[in-house]
Amino acid sequence: MRHLLSIRDLTTADVERILALSEEPAPRVLQDKGVALYFEKPSSRTRNSMEMATAQLGGHPVYIQPAELGIGTRESVADVTHTLACYHAIIAGRVFDHGLLEEMTRVNAAPILNMLSATDHPLQALADLLTVKQVIGRLEGVRIAFIGEGNNVSRSLAEACALVGAEFAIASPEGFGLGNAPDGRQFSDPAEAVEGTDIIYTDVWVSMGDEDSEERRALFEPYKVNEALMALSPNARFLHCLPAHRGEEVTAPVIDGPLSAVWRQAENRMHTARGAMLWMLEQD
Ligand code: CP
Ligand code: NVA
Repeated sequence: MRHLLSIRDLTTADVERILALSEEPAPRVLQDKGVALYFEKPSSRTRNSMEMATAQLGGHPVYIQPAELGIGTRESVADVTHTLACYHAIIAGRVFDHGLLEEMTRVNAAPILNMLSATDHPLQALADLLTVKQVIGRLEGVRIAFIGEGNNVSRSLAEACALVGAEFAIASPEGFGLGNAPDGRQFSDPAEAVEGTDIIYTDVWVSMGDEDSEERRALFEPYKVNEALMALSPNARFLHCLPAHRGEEVTAPVIDGPLSAVWRQAENRMHTARGAMLWMLEQD
């Protein structure tokens, strides 16, 4: 059974297969089947791209909020997983605790797909790779600089880059770096991270479920992606997983400017959601 909880679960061949499937016409492999979409946090792109990808594969998505399932209060994780597996070909979850998804995989009743956890956002990284491939023309040797926190988005992106031979760098405030940054590629100065880069990528300063504070915002202020930072690598394209906060992690002229590829990136969430589900349903 193929689960997809993090990019670490995948090989280079798996990623290449998912990206290839993402660009092929959609087969109706989910005809008369469901996909459970369990959301503990809000979502615009992930919910809509997963619902539409499911529809394109001939299946039926069911959106589920925590109060309905009452995991751990109304019913155990194992019983919820067994029950959903009676109706659905895939169980997908956006959760606070990554461990909940791991517990679901141990039930071994249906393939489990991570739609964002505190530590990982694999579906985002797959869409990011497809977008880089389309706007730069290749993945091997492409340089990607992430400006901001070592979080779910940057962790999955760093792991994805390592699998496809792209060079990942990150600049973060002290104490907010990425544990798995490649050797010598974790910077404190954004200018150093973006030198000679092909892609400049950022994410919000405060992720869903994390504590906001004036102190935190002050620490991140020098990590704002503005026109001056973009000018250090004048041909670099701009990416952002979204939602964005204009004037915080990115300025409006950058995200709304000609070098930004964020709408292609958002659209690619649907294509790679399709590719990821097709890969999960393929036989080993
Ligand atoms: N990028 C992303 O996952 O967006 P949503 O939180 O809107 O799903
Ligand atoms: N790091 C952000 C990503 C949102 C898509 C969060 O977890 O809130």
